[in-house]
Order: sequence, then C-alpha cells, then structure tokens
Amino acid sequence: MDKILAKTLFVGQNIQYMPECHSTNDIAAAIAKTKGSWEGTVVVTDHQINGRGQRGNDWQSAKGANLTFSVILNPSALSAADHFHLHYVASLAVFNTLKAYIKEVKIKWPNDILVKGKKICGILIENSISKRHIENSIVGIGLNVNQDIFHYDRATSLKDLTGLDYRREEILAVLCEQLEAAYLCLRRGEVAALKSQYLKNLFQYKQPAMYEAHGEAFSGSIEGVDEHGRLMIERAGAVQYYDFKEVSFLY
Ligand code: BTN
Repeated sequence: MDKILAKTLFVGQNIQYMPECHSTNDIAAAIAKTKGSWEGTVVVTDHQINGRGQRGNDWQSAKGANLTFSVILNPSALSAADHFHLHYVASLAVFNTLKAYIKEVKIKWPNDILVKGKKICGILIENSISKRHIENSIVGIGLNVNQDIFHYDRATSLKDLTGLDYRREEILAVLCEQLEAAYLCLRRGEVAALKSQYLKNLFQYKQPAMYEAHGEAFSGSIEGVDEHGRLMIERAGAVQYYDFKEVSFLY
C-alpha cells in the first residue's frame, strides 16, 4: 500500500503506510502538528484498532480488504465558518472516483456515499482551527472495496456490488487525484460549482421522503444546504434548517 502512483502535485505524494494503527485520523493529526509536515500526506493502514466514525461511532472494516486512510490538508485561507466546503470536496472526490466503477452513486448529507441506498463509504473530517481559520484538516475516508460479509445490511462494497476483486492501490491513486482536483477548485474559489455538483448528486434531493427530528417523524423534501452546511428540508410548506445531529433519514 505504500506504492501509490497518483498523478498529482501533492495529494498522495507522501504516503505513510502502517500495517496496523489505532486510527489514521489520529496519526495524521499528530503528523500535521509537526513542523514541516507536508500538505497532501496520506496515512493509510490495513487495519484500524480504534477506527472512528461520525457522531462518536466506531468504524469497523475487515482487515486488509478495504481502504482506510486520512489525508492532511492545510486550507489556511478557509474560514472556520465555511468548514462545510471541505465536505463538498471530500464527498465529490469519493463520488467521482466511484462513478468510474459503478452507477447509481449518491451523496447522503452530510458526507456518506451510498450505492442503491447502501453505505459504501464514510468520511470523517476533523479540523484544527486557529484565529477563526482552518489551520489543518484531516480528511478520513473509509471506503469498502473487497469486503464481502457485513454485519449491517445497509452496508456494501465494490466487490459486493460487482462480484469483482479490486486493487486497492489503484483506487487510492484515483481518490488522491480526485481529492486534489476538488480541493484545487476550492482553493480557486469555485465553491458554487462544487456545491452545485454536490446537490445534483445528493440522495433524496427534491424528493418527498421521511425524516426524524426532535423525536418526531415527518415527511419533507430536501431543498438544499445553507452556508453553514445545515440541511434545508421543506416541511408542511416551510423550510426548516437542521444541524448534523438534529435530523435522521428514515428509509
Ligand atoms: C462515518 O461514520 O461514516 C465516518 C467513517 C470514517 C472512517 C474513516 S477510516 C479512516 C479514518 N480513520 C478513522 O478513524 N476514521 C476515518
């Protein structure tokens, strides 16, 4: 896994491979704090002992079967208030990578990647803030590649979907290329283009569906994402705004 041939300027040009570690996000965060660390450094492992997910959940992944890695970015011009722009970047990088292998890929707000309603990839972005700007961002990605048995029926992998085995190094190289391309768009200030591509491929966008918030189930339609990254759902004729932990999808 340390021989990744990404056609990039910086993402994936420095690969730190570990057969096993507690969490690649933790290792990458420690590296990012060291002087002279390189932007675009990728920390990748075959097995995480303490893989972390969103909302304080853990992240389970079959040893040696999938991609579990973290990328160090230094988007120092990005204001902390605009942190959601990094969700556009990371989600689109995975989305565009997977589109080369399978159809029907969707981005589920804020940044899960689904195929046929099943989760194939989770993303955990952890930022360190200094003077209201993002000093560094650790983009942690868990992509199910060759795993064929899942303990959760809403999970899937490339192999589960196609019956084929994949070379993880090749997919990681494409992911690095896509991540760099989307990140460079952000650095050029092309946020509107990123957001429009994100919405175009958003799961249940502008479709009536069931959600749950504050202990109540309701029918609504996703109308967009606001400047803070909150999900906008039209419900009984009015648009409501939901933070990450305030709303769940019922499907
Ligand atoms: C989610 O809950 O959907 C996010 C899962 C993120 C998992 C990845 S695997 C690599 C990186 N290291 C971690 O500890 N978590 C992320």
